[in-house]
Amino acid sequence: MHSATHPYAGLFIVLEGGEGAGKTTQMGAIATWLEESGWLAKLRASDIDPPLLLTREPGGTPLGQGLRQLLLHSDLEIDPLAELLLYAADRAQHVATCIRPQLQRGGIVLCDRYTASTVAYQGYGRGLDLQIIEHINRIATGGLGADVVLWLDLPVGVGLARTQQRGIADRFEQTAVAFHERVRQGFMALAQQGSDRWQRIDAHQPLDQVSKAIQDCLAAHLHRWFETLKKRLTGGDRDLP
Ligand code: TYD
Repeated sequence: MHSATHPYAGLFIVLEGGEGAGKTTQMGAIATWLEESGWLAKLRASDIDPPLLLTREPGGTPLGQGLRQLLLHSDLEIDPLAELLLYAADRAQHVATCIRPQLQRGGIVLCDRYTASTVAYQGYGRGLDLQIIEHINRIATGGLGADVVLWLDLPVGVGLARTQQRGIADRFEQTAVAFHERVRQGFMALAQQGSDRWQRIDAHQPLDQVSKAIQDCLAAHLHRWFETLKKRLTGGDRDLP
């Protein structure tokens, strides 16, 4: 599933990981680094506006914010299949209205969670059929895959202890440790499929070292991508494969 990518000029970067892996902090750090290292200026100079879309799932659109509230912060009983379809609805809206248009413009998308979270949480965590999940992910995304998946990995106990320090736990943070161990196995299984788009980042180290590992990985991708982008821009075929 993660060998699929997209035909657009932009660059699609996804951060994945279990609870308390530090994705939100690292999203901010990546955005700052992209600005300070001049990447966003280069895109602005090529009239790509906005150069960067920072977003997340669930909740990257107004519809998604309503779904996020239902999924994470309501007292409703949610059947696992219904849960899967709600995440898919969030993703379909997100891809159609935010992710695809930004990639068509030639900009960068930096997204907190995407299809791998559904495989890990609804597939390995909840035990839903992996082929059904793959199929639904494909329907929701129209086959649009990430260019780079950074998997922030750390032991489950360490991540959950971090989330407990944050205060009120959402639906998933209240779920049993065994569930989160299965989620981690799910990410591990995806990483082991050996796609060169996947990068495991050791998130059990000081924040600045995690940031450095991410930057080293992204720098290589950005250089390669920007060369192709420049050729497309001068050829005037932004939207074409
Ligand atoms: P998360 O992104 O971790 O937000 P925060 O860090 O603010 O709690 O919360 C999203 C939760 O939704 C997380 O527990 C994982 C879960 N999730 C799924 O179960 N399936 C999915 O497809 C996605 C995108 C998220």
